Amino acid sequence: ADKYTYLHRNHNFKELTQDDIRFFASILPASGLIIDNEDDLMPYNVDWMRKYRGKSRLVARPKTTKQVSQILKYCNENKLAVVPQGGNTGLVGGGVPVFDEIIINTNNLNQIRSFDPVAGTLTCDAGCILEVLDNYLAKRGYMMPLDLGAKGSCHIGGNVATNAGGLRLLRYGSLHGSVLGLEVVLPDGTILDNLSTLRKDNTGYDIKQLFIGSEGTLGIITGVSILTPSKPKAVNVAVLGVNSFQNVQNAFVTSKNKLSEILSAFEFWDSNSLKLLKAHNIQGTKFPLEDNYPFYVLVEISGSNKDHDDEKLQNFLEELLTNEIVKDGVVAQDDTQIATLWSLREGIPEACSKAGAVYKYDISIPLSVFYQMVEDIRNRLQSAGVLGEDKLVKDVIGYGHIGDGNLHLNITAKSYDPEITNLIEPYVYEWTEQHNGSISAEHGLGLMKANYLRYSKSPSMISIMKQIKQNIDPNGIMNPYKFLPAQ
Ligand code: FAD
Ligand code: MLT
Ligand code: ZN
Repeated sequence: ADKYTYLHRNHNFKELTQDDIRFFASILPASGLIIDNEDDLMPYNVDWMRKYRGKSRLVARPKTTKQVSQILKYCNENKLAVVPQGGNTGLVGGGVPVFDEIIINTNNLNQIRSFDPVAGTLTCDAGCILEVLDNYLAKRGYMMPLDLGAKGSCHIGGNVATNAGGLRLLRYGSLHGSVLGLEVVLPDGTILDNLSTLRKDNTGYDIKQLFIGSEGTLGIITGVSILTPSKPKAVNVAVLGVNSFQNVQNAFVTSKNKLSEILSAFEFWDSNSLKLLKAHNIQGTKFPLEDNYPFYVLVEISGSNKDHDDEKLQNFLEELLTNEIVKDGVVAQDDTQIATLWSLREGIPEACSKAGAVYKYDISIPLSVFYQMVEDIRNRLQSAGVLGEDKLVKDVIGYGHIGDGNLHLNITAKSYDPEITNLIEPYVYEWTEQHNGSISAEHGLGLMKANYLRYSKSPSMISIMKQIKQNIDPNGIMNPYKFLPAQ
């Protein structure tokens, strides 16, 4: 937590008292509360990377929207700061307290409310786990429009609150398009019922959009309606070895031309990512390709006719080989191999997390300079003499969502250390700004990037954001210290 020690607790917020505890106990059963037990509180106070740690004394796990409303109303009237929390898989320190904020966790808000098998619209509680929803839909011929490595733990409410992108955004678009309605509890306890399932509704400002990507700073999302695509009948995956980043781009352009409507993912990782995967034996089995390429790409197709789709994939691969864009590749032969190939890509975050500490950046930048950023940071750390097996920084790796122009730059280190942080930040953000990028493509701002917002948003944009925050949360109880720069 190196850099964040400058933060001070805002003394406008009240500290938890016995009266408050009595109130929470009057609303929630014992199973819905964790109070003052450090071991039980730990998983809620510490984030997935073990980078951020708060010291909340109380976790509330409401089961109904009404309970959320009663709790928030009370917190607002008593100036008790709160952190909304879903599956606690966020990567920017947004879902854990900074000090003693009360954690309102959505674990128990986990009911599917309805599904329309004709329109494909799903309405559910915010605490439903993404993978549980996807499995529910699979039985009905549908799928969730987003997928990410954290699917087994993250909640749909957390996904909406972070506007999560993930592995198939290039095919199914962002949550700003697929979310049809939200139920949100505002800080004063008002239940905003905007849980529409309509595809089209042009009656005024689209208020739900404000909450998509609001990272818990405006209210607690309690219900979500989402448009779900039908589950493709034919899916296949290829992993290819590529000898230059220019050819990664060429392969992407070729995939759009040759696979067009059946292309459903285009991901990449570099040789350092592979080295890390192997070191931690994440995938468990042998890597199915030569391991001496600087880059690998994973291409997924999803369509409705296996024979047609396989033929398209074959034509695509032939074109890549003929034009020497790709040197080598494997195509999955069955569902198990599809899962194995995906686990290479999805295992990278876990492999990074094993290093001890990992600095994670999720940048949007033009593909033409995409990998330059990784090389530039690597050179910078090398020149500073901190990069190497027995040095502070172990490795600099690049992977990500080529199809969305979203680079994941990860720097693995022995521990979180201000010397490293200062070498990377704000350098990475300056670099991003100079290339007209975004300092967060998908993980959000949280605590990590609140004070760096200016690298991606103009003063007038930040001013409007602050006005919206002030208007909806005048006491500032919702996820304080995060998202917006300190005054
Ligand atoms: P949490 O971590 O609990 O919370 C995240 C933020 O949302 C916090 O600010 C919190 O206050 C707020 N919040 C949570 N629930 C609510 C609610 N109901 N109402 C209001 N605010 C709320 N992200 C991507 O975008 N793409 C990826 O591909 C991706 N892959 C990942 C892979 C791994 C292995 C891991 C660990 C993370 C990955 N992430 C990815 C990041 C993370 O999974 C997403 O940000 C996810 O959407 C967070 O959901 P959560 O339920 O865990 O939210
Ligand atoms: C991913 O694409 O794997 C996720 O965004 C998580 C990460 O970057 O670690
Ligand atoms: Zn990602």
